[in-house]
Amino acid sequence: MARLVELFLRLPAPPDPHESFPDYPRLRDRLGRAAEDGGPEDVEARFLEFYAHVHMNEAPYSLDERRRMDAAGGYWNHAGGLSPILKAGPWITPETVSADFGAGNGLQGLLLQVLYPHARTAQIEISARMKDIGEGLREWLGVPSGRVEWVVEDVLNVPATGYDFIYLYRPVRPDGPGGEFYTRLAREVESEPRPPVIFSIADCLKDFLSDRYEAFYGDGHLTCFRAVPPS
Ligand SMILES: C[S@@+](CC[C@H](N)C(=O)[O-])C[C@H]1O[C@@H](n2cnc3c(N)ncnc32)[C@H](O)[C@@H]1O
Repeated sequence: MARLVELFLRLPAPPDPHESFPDYPRLRDRLGRAAEDGGPEDVEARFLEFYAHVHMNEAPYSLDERRRMDAAGGYWNHAGGLSPILKAGPWITPETVSADFGAGNGLQGLLLQVLYPHARTAQIEISARMKDIGEGLREWLGVPSGRVEWVVEDVLNVPATGYDFIYLYRPVRPDGPGGEFYTRLAREVESEPRPPVIFSIADCLKDFLSDRYEAFYGDGHLTCFRAVPPS
């Protein structure tokens, strides 16, 4: 987390053509003051506030995107938090291909790339405007364009194959059409020659996975799964 705080305090303000970050200067100053004179808890609290602002909690959707989201039982753009990012290190190598299903502006995947540079991150998100905002954040954070692939699409139409690390925060509800997404995702990851590690916030995937996967961490917010090694 200290590395992220240090990076954000070094960077200029992000590009903001859509006026997505109106409180950035104020929150960055508060973070800077906490880093200079505050205790660790103060720095952490100010950093979380700052992170939540850059993550954004409202995503702009076109009428068509909103219609598709409603049909799939999509969740709005809530922040998955820093804990999955800080805990992911041991599961990401330079060769890793990662994905965020329902990526918002992609901040989670971008921070994974900042801390643990790896081959590629697929950012799958239904809102085209969030992709545009995320591209600005990618440049701002200095993540090379070849490492980030944007897939502006309904998660219901995107296969979960070819990944080593999957992150998701309930892009869709597990009942109704969303149930098909989790059923298919579970089937696809379990059929992979090298099944990915999965970090899931507010998890609802557990009920769809077979005993080929095990949860190796859970704190009520983040659940982490990996394939059970063959005996
Ligand atoms: C709870 S937020 C998670 C955001 C980010 N991944 C995180 O963890 O901080 C869910 C995201 O999924 C997106 N989403 C909702 N329904 C979707 C769908 N059917 N296809 C693709 N993305 C969707 C929303 O726009 C939102 O960005």
